[in-house]
Amino acid sequence: MSKGNALMLLSDKNWAGELSCHGGHTLSVQLFDEIDSTNAEALRQFKCLDEKAHCLPTVLIAKSQTAGRGRRGRAWVSKPGAGLYLSLMRSFTLAPDALQGLSLVVGMAVRTALASLGAAEISLKWPNDLVYHGRKLGGILLELRQEADLCHVVMGIGINIDLATQEALHLDRPAVDLAEIMGEAVTQEALCTALLNQLSRDIDQFIAQGFESFVVRWNEADYYLGKRVAVEQGEHRLLGVSRGVDSTGALLLLKEGIDNSGTLLRFEGGELSPSLRPDGE
Ligand code: BTN
Repeated sequence: MSKGNALMLLSDKNWAGELSCHGGHTLSVQLFDEIDSTNAEALRQFKCLDEKAHCLPTVLIAKSQTAGRGRRGRAWVSKPGAGLYLSLMRSFTLAPDALQGLSLVVGMAVRTALASLGAAEISLKWPNDLVYHGRKLGGILLELRQEADLCHVVMGIGINIDLATQEALHLDRPAVDLAEIMGEAVTQEALCTALLNQLSRDIDQFIAQGFESFVVRWNEADYYLGKRVAVEQGEHRLLGVSRGVDSTGALLLLKEGIDNSGTLLRFEGGELSPSLRPDGE
């Protein structure tokens, strides 16, 4: 194990070491040249932990993934050089219910880290997409393993860096990359350093104060706040106006009745998309 800074992280092939992060936290780092999925590897490593053992906060970073996983069973195309593929492993003593807003917190941390590097105008799309003027820049996939009183969480983050290196045609929706937003101003090393520090800061706040302390910040970053949207949940598709998130991270949707009355619906999960009605965006 070597102790280093993030600047050397991506220069070696398979590498393991430690990083010092915000708040004096030590992060164990594993770097892979190629792997099936950093999330899948994190879950395998959780399985090997002794019962009741917390995992040391660990980050897995891969240059490419052969079976990258996206939300809702989708694949996450992960060619070398096209993106950042990273999974952060943490154990929490909180119950899964209390962790509900965590994936939104991860999205906010990524947005704040990117802003600190000069990437402005990046917004969030509930529950946890990063978007740039409506085009997808990145996504987050949380996976959990419950063990006695502990909840082991993998926070998987994928950010498009330069999609020219992979066929954009294979992506299922309009996408954008950091090369377009920032030119060559950002390196993967700088991105990782900013990201890991911000994640450490925001996760500390989440543990101490809960999602409630992030509601204003999330709603300020919400691309669809006040816009007409559709929310799909299973076979149901509901249209309404997004009212942002509540103190748990659930989406609030104002469904207008024909008599102009409104019902506020609350979604803990689902898929949001712009409404295709002519008056929607
Ligand atoms: C989404 O569908 O928007 C979430 C995508 C998450 C992709 C990241 S890349 C690193 C980590 N490993 C995976 O297999 N998936 C996540």
